[in-house]
Amino acid sequence: MSDDKRFYLTTPIYYVNDAPHIGHAYTTLACDALARFMRLDGYDVFFLTGTDEHGQKVEKSAQAAGMDPQAFTDRVSENFRELAKAMNFSNDAFIRTTEPRHARASQAIWQALMDNGHIYLGSYSGWYAVRDEAFYDENEIAEGEDGIRRAPSGAEAEWVEEPSYFFDLSKWQDRLLAFYEANPDFIAPPSRRNEVVSFVKGGLKDLSISRTSFKWGVPVPDDADHIMYVWLDALTNYATAVDYPDTDSPDFSMYWPCDLHMVGKDILRFHAVYWPAFLMGAGIDPPKRIFAHGWWTNEGQKISKSIGNIIDPFEVIERYGLDQVRYFLLREVPFGNDGDFSHRAMVNRINGDLANDLGNLVQRVASMIQRYFDGTMPVHAGGHRDADHELLDAASGLLETCRDRMRAQAFHEALDAVWSVVRQANAYVDRQAPWASIKEDRVRTGAVLATLVQTIRRVAIVLQPFMPESAGRILDQLAVDPGRRTFANLGSADNVPVGTALPKPSPVFPRMQEETAGEASA
Ligand code: MSP
Repeated sequence: MSDDKRFYLTTPIYYVNDAPHIGHAYTTLACDALARFMRLDGYDVFFLTGTDEHGQKVEKSAQAAGMDPQAFTDRVSENFRELAKAMNFSNDAFIRTTEPRHARASQAIWQALMDNGHIYLGSYSGWYAVRDEAFYDENEIAEGEDGIRRAPSGAEAEWVEEPSYFFDLSKWQDRLLAFYEANPDFIAPPSRRNEVVSFVKGGLKDLSISRTSFKWGVPVPDDADHIMYVWLDALTNYATAVDYPDTDSPDFSMYWPCDLHMVGKDILRFHAVYWPAFLMGAGIDPPKRIFAHGWWTNEGQKISKSIGNIIDPFEVIERYGLDQVRYFLLREVPFGNDGDFSHRAMVNRINGDLANDLGNLVQRVASMIQRYFDGTMPVHAGGHRDADHELLDAASGLLETCRDRMRAQAFHEALDAVWSVVRQANAYVDRQAPWASIKEDRVRTGAVLATLVQTIRRVAIVLQPFMPESAGRILDQLAVDPGRRTFANLGSADNVPVGTALPKPSPVFPRMQEETAGEASA
């Protein structure tokens, strides 16, 4: 395998203060679809997710639960593994920041920054928001009507005064700007890139990177009074997972620098400003790309615990079906934009795109083969007509289009390309009308159904990253050998052989009943 066929991608590591919600599921789902796509495309993929277990926020949640923080994080971290199972995520590893190897990596990066002269001891006085685990400037804090001072994110801010180590971020402005300039794809989408560039152009302040007022974190090397700022610890997970500080290890040599950190827009600054500066300061190559996606609202409303409208991923899977939810999340909203999770939109996607367009196509073709050809794959005899070529070419062209779109993390556009072939195939069925042609021209009817099988086979292979289980069932219906379902098998050499016995058709995407469709949201 050549070097360029390796791909390392990461999700943020999730705070274990809370149960997983749809936002967590979304970030990891996007990575999962991409990881599966790259694997099918012949890449050696390393897909990492995990949990962020240190810091004041987690410590407070443990206290509120009346538990020791380690026992608390052991328990809540498990919920994120459960989510990964429930969502059918294919992560290769799951990292926890409370693992001993991670303390070692965090201390090593600290030591490298210290040795390179980027850390000094001072004292911090300013605003801190525990919910964001972030420091804020005076001018960012506003007092609400309730008298509470809040950060722009809405998180409550408190005044902090304590001795602290600092990272010399103020000296990194030019290097960061030069880095963004030299690597135009480093931050995506472009609107986010512009935001980061103007933030950095506005000037950077040195960053407080240690705390003394609580204990739940990685100890600062040689100064037991301090623990590391949770974001320095957290970001380092991406390096820990590939064996940092053992930079000679096979994993580090193979996978670093990381190809993609997928993050929500709220945590872009940490990844696109602090993280490359920390890495360059420690003498490590920065990652290749950071993609910041948007946020979901629930029926038009901001999702928040206090409003009580958190979307529970386990519940929506139960209600709509796993692949239906996976499809909806990646199709409904242009990746990078904010989007609204509504029952109505979900039902429209399920009944329109899945049941009517794709489900019907598969069902119609499989049943006609059952009925007219005794359930065996017909031969494409009598020569290909233009209409057959057009459809087969469209299906063959899918991989290249999807590859481009997946590389740009334009998941919705990849799915859109697949659906344009699905719709083309439905139009072809309608025009060729095999139910009519079977009466006078059995040969032509066989050719039409064979064209459709080869089209559906390609569509389903390309859909596997998005809906692994359902795409697998479609391929099962076409009796496609499970060992011949990668992108290398998209060519006609792997067509379903004439005479193959196809199993009895069963619908892959049931329609949602109207009475359920009329209900208010979950
Ligand atoms: N622990 C940090 C990340 C450290 S990475 C080195 C963290 N954790 S988090 O659990 O609060 O959030 C994780 C992700 O969930 C973020 O990418 C965030 O954008 C995403 N989402 C949280 N709410 C969301 C929505 N309502 N919609 C979409 N994504 C959202 O931040």
